[in-house]
Amino acid sequence: MELDKEKILVVDDNLELAEMIGQLLGRHGFRVSIAPDGRTAVEKVLSESPGLVLLDLNLPDISGGEVLKKIKETNNETAVIILTAYGGEQVAVDLMKAGAEDFISKPFNNELLINSVKEVFKIRESQMEDKKYARLSSFEKFFPFLAHEIRNPLHAISGALAIIQRRSNLQDEVQAKSIRIIQEEVQHLTGFVQECLDFIRPPVRSRFVQVDANEVISAVINVISHIFADLTKKIKIREELQPKLPKVLVNYEEIKQAFLNIVKNSIEAMGEKGELIIKTRFKAEPSPGWVEVIFVDNGPGIKKENLPFLFHPFFTTKLRGTGLGLAICRRIIAERHDGKIHIESEEGKGTIITVELPKTQASEVAGEHSR
Ligand SMILES: Nc1ncnc2c1ncn2[C@@H]1O[C@H](COP(=O)(O)OP(=O)(O)OP(=O)(O)O)[C@@H](O)[C@H]1O
Ligand SMILES: [Mg+2]
Repeated sequence: MELDKEKILVVDDNLELAEMIGQLLGRHGFRVSIAPDGRTAVEKVLSESPGLVLLDLNLPDISGGEVLKKIKETNNETAVIILTAYGGEQVAVDLMKAGAEDFISKPFNNELLINSVKEVFKIRESQMEDKKYARLSSFEKFFPFLAHEIRNPLHAISGALAIIQRRSNLQDEVQAKSIRIIQEEVQHLTGFVQECLDFIRPPVRSRFVQVDANEVISAVINVISHIFADLTKKIKIREELQPKLPKVLVNYEEIKQAFLNIVKNSIEAMGEKGELIIKTRFKAEPSPGWVEVIFVDNGPGIKKENLPFLFHPFFTTKLRGTGLGLAICRRIIAERHDGKIHIESEEGKGTIITVELPKTQASEVAGEHSR
């Protein structure tokens, strides 16, 4: 059954609260329907196919857990956020194991509710996308399903950890450190799953727009300064950008991702100190002309014997590396943008990575990317 993605069903016998939630969601562009009890909720899930259900656990007729089960039986793709009274978190965590996407303790503030709703929709959307990939090659076919299986418990772990964090004594250093370790590991695994999904994601031609590569570089440097907080103390990034570069027709987010992976590698390689120079220039030959982006770092360089493997998926020399960064770059640049990526490196001297993207031809001119 096709879901009505903008529709949210609020299930609560406290009609005043349900109305209030409805108005709040309405202000954020969602259409809302209300059910005062479990039976009506199940009927409405069947007749209205809402994308999301906000489900209060204390209903006058059927138990919240039973309603959740029925909703998932009716349409497994309908997302459910549990609304629970303070102290009911344990039940809520159990329900997340049974398929609910998230839970919110009452009383909650509006921002928390909206953030949770948006997050759940975002996850749902990427899960739907995952499903579309199922027709692809064996790794690509298999991984999205694995991703579901990894993401769901990760989500439950995060939820349970948030409870532990709220209730435990964070003055106790051992406890605080243990919580931090779990958080970091969950984040690492979430990042890994995302990287694998990025790697297998099929190209979206409709998102190709005219882009100025200089702008992408600025955006990447901006993102990098957030990822590596004390970056400026350690590493200098110098831009040598050619003004008035011809535009390239690209998927902006993908190209940004590729450049980000390259810059991250340089910074990770340089570690304590170094300089990264990012140059852009236009090369007129061979036709139609190419926009070149060159990344030059004075890090430790790459061992000769490793050079043939850099673009292989899962090749890494880092303790915590996934080894997908450059494989993703090649897929994006060479396979999806008819571009080229080339690495030169000498141990002890540094690394030069050159990306070439074909200049947009007149026949391709369509949308413009604006920031
Ligand atoms: N600028 C660089 N300087 C030195 N070594 C590099 C540089 N860029 C890449 N490498 C080497 O190439 C390997 C593969 O890079 P890639 O980005 O694919 O994976 P990763 O950085 O190890 O892990 P991930 O990017 O998935 O977190 C790295 O482990 C590193 O050994
Ligand atoms: Mg990398």
